[in-house]
Amino acid sequence: MKASDIKKIGVIGAGVMGPSIAELFAIFGASYDFSIIIYDISPSQLEKAKSRIETDFDKVRSTGLFNDEGLETARNRIHLETNIHSLMDSHLLIEAVPERLELKLEVFKQLDDLTPPSTILATNSSGLSITEIASVTTRPELCIGTHFMNPPLLMPLVEVVKGQHTSDQTVQTILELLSSVNKRPVLVKKDIPGYVHNRLQAALFREVMHLLDEDVMEVQDLETTVRYGLGLRLPILKVFEIVDLMGLDTILNVLTYLYPTLDRSTNPPSFLKEMIDEGKLGAKSETGFHDYSFQDIQKSMQEKESATFQLLMMMQQYD
Ligand SMILES: NC(=O)c1ccc[n+]([C@@H]2O[C@H](COP(=O)([O-])OP(=O)(O)OC[C@H]3O[C@@H](n4cnc5c(N)ncnc54)[C@H](O)[C@@H]3O)[C@@H](O)[C@H]2O)c1
Repeated sequence: MKASDIKKIGVIGAGVMGPSIAELFAIFGASYDFSIIIYDISPSQLEKAKSRIETDFDKVRSTGLFNDEGLETARNRIHLETNIHSLMDSHLLIEAVPERLELKLEVFKQLDDLTPPSTILATNSSGLSITEIASVTTRPELCIGTHFMNPPLLMPLVEVVKGQHTSDQTVQTILELLSSVNKRPVLVKKDIPGYVHNRLQAALFREVMHLLDEDVMEVQDLETTVRYGLGLRLPILKVFEIVDLMGLDTILNVLTYLYPTLDRSTNPPSFLKEMIDEGKLGAKSETGFHDYSFQDIQKSMQEKESATFQLLMMMQQYD
């Protein structure tokens, strides 16, 4: 199937990710006139998704980038369903159910039985094996990973993950489709745990937690180091550009003495488990490495989304 053949898209799971994926295709796919169904087993999740979609459309309206009529049409492209048969004639299904392998296998088997053999089946898994998920279907060549970042409507990056049997045509179709709705898809050529983005994030998490564990720095100073050093550079300079600007000979000298000293533990630090046992789960328990208040979290996340949008506009000048 070519990208231009995709007209009907189904999203499975109306939690954090599903509704925003649907909004993306509804808003940025105006010229394709997609019809989008969000399916969930839970009616209450669909109710929540409905109000979330209204809020998100209000936010998009407030940017002034789209006219009201276009947004009204886009909103009407999204349908919420508890009947799985509503997905039957979809050209593309994007699964966004919780990150549990057994559940993904069950859902992929269900979708494979339900849809015509030409339907592409994508998973928004954060790092599970596409090959394994595809193995329960009769069409592994049409199974693929589409790892959107949260929130999918705002974040440009999507990792397109090729399973062992995913066909080049499926990869091409999904890359084209995502580009057509303004995303920045990247191809992950090998189906490795965590794909690429989450591995990079884990490398940073591993080192900051190691430095904290070794009492090299306090949390606040680690935050300052990342934000006002590396963090400030990255929206403007590309990683390999930083390497080029430093000089490959210099970086070789630095990495030669640094690599043996970097954290290479194969387990997360034990203090993480201790914090969890003390009830410090992060924002969801109002305390983790920082303190939060439930009242402020929603407002603060909205402000941060809006700041991310401004940053994105600025970053594009340095592409
Ligand atoms: N939340 C994030 O920040 C984030 C970021 C990137 C990727 N992901 C990935 O996206 C996927 C979805 O994550 P989420 O945070 O949206 O999950 P979530 O728990 O918020 O939502 C999952 C939804 O799936 C529904 N569901 C469960 N079983 C189902 C079934 N059998 N059929 C249909 N619907 C079913 C649930 O009712 C729920 O509404 C996961 O694989 C996750 O790893 C999440």
